[in-house]
Amino acid sequence: MKIISIINQKGGVGKTTTAINLSAQLAKTYKKKVLVIDLDPQANLTIVLSGGQFEFNSTIANVFDTPKTHSLIKSIIPAKTGESGVIENLFFCPSDIHLSKVIEQSLTKFQREQILLKQLEPLKNDFDIVILDCPPNMSLTSVNAMVASSFFLIPIDGGSFSLNGLADLLDALEEVKENEELNYAVFRNEYALSNRLINNYIDSELADIDGTYLKTKIRRSEAIGQASVTTQPLLSYQKTSNAINDYKDLAKEVLELINV
Ligand SMILES: Nc1ncnc2c1ncn2[C@@H]1O[C@H](COP(=O)(O)OP(=O)(O)OP(=O)(O)O)[C@@H](O)[C@H]1O
Ligand SMILES: [Mg+2]
Repeated sequence: MKIISIINQKGGVGKTTTAINLSAQLAKTYKKKVLVIDLDPQANLTIVLSGGQFEFNSTIANVFDTPKTHSLIKSIIPAKTGESGVIENLFFCPSDIHLSKVIEQSLTKFQREQILLKQLEPLKNDFDIVILDCPPNMSLTSVNAMVASSFFLIPIDGGSFSLNGLADLLDALEEVKENEELNYAVFRNEYALSNRLINNYIDSELADIDGTYLKTKIRRSEAIGQASVTTQPLLSYQKTSNAINDYKDLAKEVLELINV
């Protein structure tokens, strides 16, 4: 079981959209058994993968709140599109707004940065890939994701400030991973070919990072937002599009890197 964090403390760069559509591709096209965990109290991923549900018996907030009595497995449910459709091979753990409060109150918990790692350990034969959708900050939730993950996928948007904060993020990852090798890949989201000046700048800045700069670029596409509004991954929303092909390529490139 490979655990991948989709991470960038910068907001709105496409973490959640990537988590949804990459995991749908991995499950549907590449037949991997995938678990996605929503680690953001905003719960955007939860709304999409539950087909629009807002209330759950148990969420990741319960797991962080009382890890000894509330195991992660209790919060895992099949991903749905609308009322009836289930996405085969795709499972998720919902989040909710209480997660922020729980995290604030966890600061005195023993080994608080290893809660997720320990909760995932018993599931290691149940899933091929676990995808963690991180919040846009360096909170304890993100640190838990960093500790648990062996691979980091970092989306970079097409704006002029897209690389601001990347060095800080890589420093934080290096620090958390200490002596372990740091495996990460950066990729472009909301890519527009016409944005030549910014594209050249980003290409040159990322040319000699230690990690991989992915060949795949997720182009800017209206269908991506539209699918999320209808609470489904792109793959369920439409049959073919450039965006679907982009996520398919992304899944393929990621699978090659993580050897699954
Ligand atoms: N390739 C794309 N083309 C068009 N719109 C996109 C694309 N990727 C993301 N978006 C849109 O950008 C917005 C932000 O995306 P998303 O929520 O995935 O970012 P995020 O990094 O998870 O944000 P946050 O930091 O708040 O968690 C959403 O409205 C989403 O639909
Ligand atoms: Mg998000």
